Amino acid sequence: MDNNKRPESMQRITTKELADAFIAEQVEAIRAQVGDKKVLLALSGGVDSSVVAALLIKAIGQRLVAVHVNHGLLRKGEPEQVVEVFRNQMKANLIYVDAVDRFLDKLAGVSDPEQKRKIIGAEFIRVFEEEARKQDDIAFLAQGTIYPDITESVGVKAHHNVGGLPDDLQFELVEPVKLLYKDEVRVVGKALGLPDGMVYRQPFPGPGLGVRCTGAITRDRLEALRESDAILREEFAKNGLEGKVWQYFTVVPDYKSTGVKDNKRSWDWPVIIRAVNTRDAMTATIEEIPYPLLHHITQRIVTEVPGVNRVLYDLTPKPTGTIEWE
Ligand code: XMP
Repeated sequence: MDNNKRPESMQRITTKELADAFIAEQVEAIRAQVGDKKVLLALSGGVDSSVVAALLIKAIGQRLVAVHVNHGLLRKGEPEQVVEVFRNQMKANLIYVDAVDRFLDKLAGVSDPEQKRKIIGAEFIRVFEEEARKQDDIAFLAQGTIYPDITESVGVKAHHNVGGLPDDLQFELVEPVKLLYKDEVRVVGKALGLPDGMVYRQPFPGPGLGVRCTGAITRDRLEALRESDAILREEFAKNGLEGKVWQYFTVVPDYKSTGVKDNKRSWDWPVIIRAVNTRDAMTATIEEIPYPLLHHITQRIVTEVPGVNRVLYDLTPKPTGTIEWE
């Protein structure tokens, strides 16, 4: 039997009962596969790796070694939430790596989007490898691979595999959600008791905010991006758009324009809002955000975020615009 093929008889996991049955089955399967060995996991805090972490904690407790790499390109509050949920609440064996300076130093002055992606990917593997080498008795690598990653039927680029590790770190894989679709992973996550903010999180690209801070990333512009994104998410949540709109975020481009603030001329960045709906990320349409809400978000961003004097709304569907700006 092909282990990477979803059997036609497999029921879609839509309820807590079905999720509980799946969890019980996977806990057994993980214990049978892993025995008394240790398992390493790169835990980003996204729904897939979080669900895998929660399953492994249930199955093998402290023998899961979860590594969270903070590369400085995560959204506001995300690294803190990973520590709170997994270390403080679930008592997991979590290694938190503050690699912010390492990543931002490597990215300094690099403006080519593909080069930026390569640096982020390569540096991630390096940091993860260093942490893996500090551990004894690791025999398995857990991954949040989901079914669309295998079938490549959607446009969201697969970002789960810690590919590129050296040969001596090629552990046997543990992939408990590899036959599940995203909506099923969410149902399982909810049944495992993960917070809604983690379970219903919108897609977030592997290179994180790096592809939304266009051109060469600077710390001040990255901060403007993180703060404006947090305001947008807060307002979407307050106004019932969270969970309704597929993906929404801000972009801070690497150019400035004149403005006026407190009777003085300013020379600051614009913030661009993007909010799209799609089925498979191959094409996308624009969410028609109500004007009063757009005005309110604009007002908040220009008053609360340092270095910003304008807010723009990107009306471009895909095609011709991609969802991300880089
Ligand atoms: P685009 O910008 O190509 O994005 O229309 C389609 C979907 O893929 C996500 N995306 C990425 N995900 N690594 C990822 O893991 C990437 O480099 C990357 N680039 C885009 C994007 O957020 C959208 O959901």
